[in-house]
Amino acid sequence: MTNAAPSAGRLLRGPVVSFLNDPGEGDTPEPGSLLHLEDGAIWLVNGRIQAIGDYAELAPQLPAGIERVDYAGKLMMPGFIDSHVHYVQLDIMASYGRQLLDWLNEYTFPEECRFAERAHAENVAEAFLDEQLRVGTTTAQVFCTSHPVSVDTFFAAAQRRGLRMLAGKVLMDRHAPEALTDSVDSGVRDSERLIGDWHGKDRLGYTLTPRFAPTSSPAQLDTVGGILRTAPDLHLQTHLSENKGEIDWVAELFPDCRDYLGVYERYGLVGPRSTFAHGIHLDQPMRNRLAAAGANIAFCPTSNLFLGSGLFDRLACREAGLNTTLASDVGGGTDLSGLATLKAAYQVGQLLGQPLTAWQGFYRLTLGNARALHLDTHIGSLRQGKEADIVVLDPAATPLLARRSARTRNLAEQLFALMMLGDDRSVYATWAGGECVHQRDVASTP
Ligand code: GUN
Ligand code: ZN
Repeated sequence: MTNAAPSAGRLLRGPVVSFLNDPGEGDTPEPGSLLHLEDGAIWLVNGRIQAIGDYAELAPQLPAGIERVDYAGKLMMPGFIDSHVHYVQLDIMASYGRQLLDWLNEYTFPEECRFAERAHAENVAEAFLDEQLRVGTTTAQVFCTSHPVSVDTFFAAAQRRGLRMLAGKVLMDRHAPEALTDSVDSGVRDSERLIGDWHGKDRLGYTLTPRFAPTSSPAQLDTVGGILRTAPDLHLQTHLSENKGEIDWVAELFPDCRDYLGVYERYGLVGPRSTFAHGIHLDQPMRNRLAAAGANIAFCPTSNLFLGSGLFDRLACREAGLNTTLASDVGGGTDLSGLATLKAAYQVGQLLGQPLTAWQGFYRLTLGNARALHLDTHIGSLRQGKEADIVVLDPAATPLLARRSARTRNLAEQLFALMMLGDDRSVYATWAGGECVHQRDVASTP
């Protein structure tokens, strides 16, 4: 970890990889889509990138006495982004043997009841952020619980660490334990209070968060649409078409809607800042409707495999022009790590005959996610003026990875080896807002 930044800033020197555009699905990135500097330099001042370029070109412009950090042999990339994750489910990860609806009732809802208590929420929020930074994730769109205190504690913890985060209070007024349900009135009141207190403060933004159609009454969904109409700069996230049993239940609860997506459309929840987690069981007309609205589907491969939900058809979404983001969906997901998410996404793709290239994978984890979440003016690429959120990967983090990395012949092979063999040990350091917020080899204090 570093001390307060000197006014001249800091210089990080080492290899740099950052996307400037979608690299496409081919084996080589589309022309102009990639920035790769073998001996690069990133000059950080006041939490932003003051300049970036080849070290030899940038070095003569640097002020005398600037603090330098040497990342030779490492790989600097934009901090990873997780478009859908439940911080409150950290402690129920790896709960055995259920599919979605039973998993919610047996493990998830009882755990979420504990977040009425501030001390518990604070403890988990800090542990969650520690873990995210350890795996190189600097921004996430985060589900809290229905308790406002779960949101206050999360935002306060993220603000103290200078992180860019999206989060919101879960809205759910039915089909769950009483300790977890709100009401139409309290849901709106609490959301509006939280928006006033946190939205746009420092690097924080608010996401309206109806859990999913079965746990919100039509009246509640209607009020959420009302808030969104008056404040279109808010984000929204929920779940969609994850599991067959869930889909049947939605059809019973909303018989007048044409399909599951039709429920969210009816209440005005499908817009350019809307993220729908999963979207596994969609037909092409539904994908086209989502694409026309500019919404995105969060592909959550470790969760989809863990809960046995199904195989997400990434290329059908691409064909529809529908944005796909990448997400962990912890605690349904089995790993917070973006590298682990890429590995599972690749494996799911293999089963569908649509393997994910490392170019496309790392693009999605960084600039792709930032664009789909409308955060790319701030983060997602290492360019002058962007916020200095950086992950420093170590291609020789373990003996095995070192052996494999030594065999790679080019950047594509190196990135792919990291995506398949990498884990938290491959994250050497993480920077957020121009400060080093995680350093792998320094023992953390309890
Ligand atoms: N659908 C409604 N709630 C949840 C949740 O917490 N996790 C997942 N994976 N799906 C959901
Ligand atoms: Zn989820």
